[in-house]
Amino acid sequence: MSYRVCLIAGDGIGREVVPAAQQVLSATGLAFNFTSAEAGWETFQRHGTSLPEATLTAVTEAQATLFGAVSSPLNPVEGYRSPIVAMRRALNLYANLRPVISAPIAGSKPGIDMLIVRENTEGLYASHERASQEEAVTERVITRAASQRIVRLAFQLARQRRKLVTVVHKANVLRATCGLFRRTAFEVAAEFPEVTAEEALVDSLAMRLILGPEHYDVIVTTNLFGDILSDEAAALVGGLGLAPSANVGDRQGLFEPVHGSAPDIAGKGIASPLATILAAAMLLDHLGEPVQAERVRTAVMRVLQGSDLTPDLGGNASTSQVTAAVISALNAN
Ligand code: NAI
Ligand code: MG
Repeated sequence: MSYRVCLIAGDGIGREVVPAAQQVLSATGLAFNFTSAEAGWETFQRHGTSLPEATLTAVTEAQATLFGAVSSPLNPVEGYRSPIVAMRRALNLYANLRPVISAPIAGSKPGIDMLIVRENTEGLYASHERASQEEAVTERVITRAASQRIVRLAFQLARQRRKLVTVVHKANVLRATCGLFRRTAFEVAAEFPEVTAEEALVDSLAMRLILGPEHYDVIVTTNLFGDILSDEAAALVGGLGLAPSANVGDRQGLFEPVHGSAPDIAGKGIASPLATILAAAMLLDHLGEPVQAERVRTAVMRVLQGSDLTPDLGGNASTSQVTAAVISALNAN
């Protein structure tokens, strides 16, 4: 049996890092049936949609998808929508998981091993927006059902880790929305007596993440807060070139680096493929291949201890050299 995996390279360095991670997946020796699909800004320019129907079908039929990155115009473009946000919604990928783990490189603080669990379908990203010349409003949607399911997942994951969940909100100001999230979170916490639940206001947590990141195990929060905190946390352990993420629901999973299409370095062959390779390791976990997932992570850690690193991580190797180093480390363990 081979695993059905859909590859969406997207724009910019997505086209460099997704093929790199595909090579690593193949090098595990597992059998894959890869399909490629397109999405993003260049797709929009060609077809008038950033997410063709065929792509949605391919992603739905695959067991898991590896996604690179897409470019999004900063100014609104008629008809353009973010394909990643649309896919998260279409496939009900309600959880965004971002592991933040110390790396053996100069740019990483030691002693960090946390998982940020971000609600992925609502909050300020619910697309409830209206604007006139003089006033613009974005509505923040929080539901009990979505809060319950994300917090429950956070506690289930914490049970397999250090058994500490930090619920992050701003309920002192956003009384309605964060109030509902917070109340729901502590109702769910009561279902998990073996896991410690604590809470923090998002602004104070943003500071404590810098001052004492070792404390945290699982952080669970709403969409926008999670988006911001996870980029902040990525900076503690080596930056975007190393940060993977998973979008998971009840069935499919979509795995991607945290970084974007990096137009400043696209086409130069110097993007770090490691974030996408670590996302591919999360994809292996999702497929029920934890041993192979760990083999890939170990290979990445070994490469980080050497000198085959891209410029963002302090070296001068190319994307393909780093990929070859990961594959050779993989074959050695
Ligand atoms: P970015 O993540 O693309 O780049 C930020 C900085 O980090 C740049 O200096 C870039 O060179 C560097 N960087 C990122 N990934 C790297 C890697 N693998 N190796 C080495 N250096 C790396 O964020 P930016 O510049 O804000 O956005 C660029 C485009 O990407 C925009 O169009 C944005 O909308 C899009 N974007 C897409 C995302 C996605 O597809 N999920 C996420 C974030 C941004
Ligand atoms: Mg982000």
